[in-house]
Amino acid sequence: HTYVIIMAGGVGTRFWPFSRTSYPKQFHDVLGTGRTLLQQTADRFNGICPPENIFIVTSSLYRDLCLQQLPQLHSDQVLCEPVARNTAPCIAYACYKIAQRDPEANVVVAPADHIILKEEEFQRTIKTALDATQNRDILVTLGIQPSRPDTGYGYIQYVPEGDEPVKKVKTFTEKPNLELARQFVDSGEFVWNAGIFVWNIQAIIKAFKAYLPETAEIFEEGAADYYQDSEARFIDKAYSLCGSVSIDNGVMEKADNVYVVLSDFGWSDLGTWKSLYEVSDKNHDLNVVDGHVLLYDTKNCIIKTPKERLVAINGLDGYIVAEYDNVLMICRKEDEQKVKAFVADAKERG
Ligand code: GDD
Ligand code: MG
Repeated sequence: HTYVIIMAGGVGTRFWPFSRTSYPKQFHDVLGTGRTLLQQTADRFNGICPPENIFIVTSSLYRDLCLQQLPQLHSDQVLCEPVARNTAPCIAYACYKIAQRDPEANVVVAPADHIILKEEEFQRTIKTALDATQNRDILVTLGIQPSRPDTGYGYIQYVPEGDEPVKKVKTFTEKPNLELARQFVDSGEFVWNAGIFVWNIQAIIKAFKAYLPETAEIFEEGAADYYQDSEARFIDKAYSLCGSVSIDNGVMEKADNVYVVLSDFGWSDLGTWKSLYEVSDKNHDLNVVDGHVLLYDTKNCIIKTPKERLVAINGLDGYIVAEYDNVLMICRKEDEQKVKAFVADAKERG
């Protein structure tokens, strides 16, 4: 009864120009391992569920890319969204669909764009979470020991008592401001939400009904259309009615039956250039280099340029140099939060 939902509809703007609307980061071999982030995500569930129980939710723009990269999947397993409405509708679509097939399904929801270094430990953690959720009306998330007051994550405060690896959640705060994030990290009582969720299908449907009743109603109404020719038509209508809301804000922050499995499997959300810099191998000058590059007096940089272009760099410290598909970006690593603005300006210029 185990199913996996892979969320692969994000555009990954903070990773521009490498991640683009036409080719977001989850479809790139970001780490140079020969497998893209999406492929690595699917590989990770080998042995946890059979390939026919994996569903990818993505934009209809990326349907063919998903099927090319995961040829083991049948086209029915790629659920296409006409527009992006953030993760709550994405999860509702897949969960209501799975519920039609298997009302006893036990579900893992995973983002397509994360790095996990310790795969065995990851599988052990997922099994613990699946065991905990099989017969209980609880929503489980995986928690990571925080290393800095990052404002891009959800923060989870849990009840520390007991030896059980699954802990009751006291508070869930999605993307706090910096001051709050600092307090959370300093207190030692919080973990980051890894954005990987585990629950049984009845528990999540109950939570949708309680906390996002409009979304629940929209998807429930069409449930009979799933696996019929009318699915695409229904989904077009559903998405035109749905508001944009993340599962974190819409459900996890509000629910009182949330539990967390404290985890340590070499997790990293490859959300930004700095996060890629941190997980990558560095040379003696602490540069991360992927490309055909000559470096002089340059350190602490991340450089990713096409192999066919020779790039010579002199005197840079702490910069991102990234070229992809006719766009070159040079930006101080410390200023990487500005990347989103570059993307908006670039769009305007056409
Ligand atoms: N299908 C689909 N449709 N997928 C989407 C959509 C959508 O509209 N929006 C986002 N996704 C996918 C992204 O591709 C990513 O894999 C995943 O859903 C999570 O979305 P992000 O936009 O990357 O969320 P986030 O990183 O800001 O925050 C989430 O992840 C953090 C950990 O990485 C939250 O769950 C945080 O609480 C968490 O700490
Ligand atoms: Mg993310």
